[in-house]
Amino acid sequence: MAQLSHKKIILGITGGIAAYKSAELTRRLKEQGADVRVVMTDGAKEFITPLTFQALSGNPVSDSLLDRDAEAAMGHIELARWADLVLIAPASADFLARLTHGFANDLLSTLCLATNAPIAAAPAMNQQMWRNPATQENALTLKQRRIHLLGPGSGEQACGETGPGRMLEPSELVTAVLRLFSKAAAPAEKLSGKKVVITAGPTREALDPIRYISNHSSGKMGFALAKAALAAGAESVLIAGPVHLSTPEGVKRINTNTAQEMHTASLDMAGSADIFIATAAVADYRPETVAEQKIKKSADTMTIQLTRNPDIVAAVASLPDKPFTVGFAAETNDLISYAQGKLKNKNLDLIIANDVTRSDIGFNSDQNAVTVISAEKHQSLERASKEAIAEQIINIIASAISEAPKG
Ligand code: C5P
Repeated sequence: MAQLSHKKIILGITGGIAAYKSAELTRRLKEQGADVRVVMTDGAKEFITPLTFQALSGNPVSDSLLDRDAEAAMGHIELARWADLVLIAPASADFLARLTHGFANDLLSTLCLATNAPIAAAPAMNQQMWRNPATQENALTLKQRRIHLLGPGSGEQACGETGPGRMLEPSELVTAVLRLFSKAAAPAEKLSGKKVVITAGPTREALDPIRYISNHSSGKMGFALAKAALAAGAESVLIAGPVHLSTPEGVKRINTNTAQEMHTASLDMAGSADIFIATAAVADYRPETVAEQKIKKSADTMTIQLTRNPDIVAAVASLPDKPFTVGFAAETNDLISYAQGKLKNKNLDLIIANDVTRSDIGFNSDQNAVTVISAEKHQSLERASKEAIAEQIINIIASAISEAPKG
């Protein structure tokens, strides 16, 4: 479904190697129905040609402030007023600095000064440049001025270094843009003033210093819920197991490894939480003893004695002033009846049932389809991206707590 139809987006491209990803971004914004006009700085044109963006956006590319022909077609003030959103991706360190200081010496910076539309920027630069106090101060100033900074992500960089400064992927940027528009349309933030704590990912249970028992959970559903909770105005805290996902901007993250660590962190946080959502695939058992040295192979078979891990969500749900507590039930059979059993046995307010036999949804997939079950009703959420499912779950939780406030 085209979720950006009739939305007019100026896509500003500044000089950086990530500019090549903006070709894909243009395509994806168009796929969602947006009308995209690309504005390039001189630096951007060193990396990718305007012709590429003209072909992908279906509109002429603007690159000059003082071009008579361009001004006659759509002047810079007219362009600034045309936009519903100015999205700068990639936003170089230099551009962030010029935006912070209100420069107007090229078309893109001038548009940013002249527009009434919200501005979002996806920083992309070397990790040291991002970490530099000058860039950090600029980023802070921009955020205080309600300019939306999307990312950066963290990981391997084109320069060969590793750290924060990667431009978010085009799909992540499209999701962020959708959220910006839906937030602007939302009359009120449904969870403002609430604290939401979410467990996510797998846990690792050590056998010896180098081996562990774990599972395939990617953490994507929990991270999507943390983003959706934040977008709904909540304070959002993620208690993450070992996953390779970057922390959504504005979400507080606590890293844990084992079920016991996740249990401790959850109980620390749950007392002050209004909502607790357990998406983590916690290992049910851990090795009874952890060998101090690497276990050597000797006999043909070996037995590992396991001991039960604490049930985190059940522990939270048995607190005297428990938060609104939500669990997940990943099942291979009798989905609804097992989920209902867990709702009751763990004293949950809501359980999200997931059929994990389907390869197109659930574990490790970007898609999900679930049934939301409370004591009173069932609600099926059709197959969609985990982001879209997360938003719907957060909406259901928000409605449920407004009907039955904590305490
Ligand atoms: O009992 P089962 O593992 O199927 O329950 C799944 C739900 O319980 C999920 O919400 C999961 O995060 C939570 N859980 C937990 N601690 C455990 C096991 C499961 O919080 N030790």
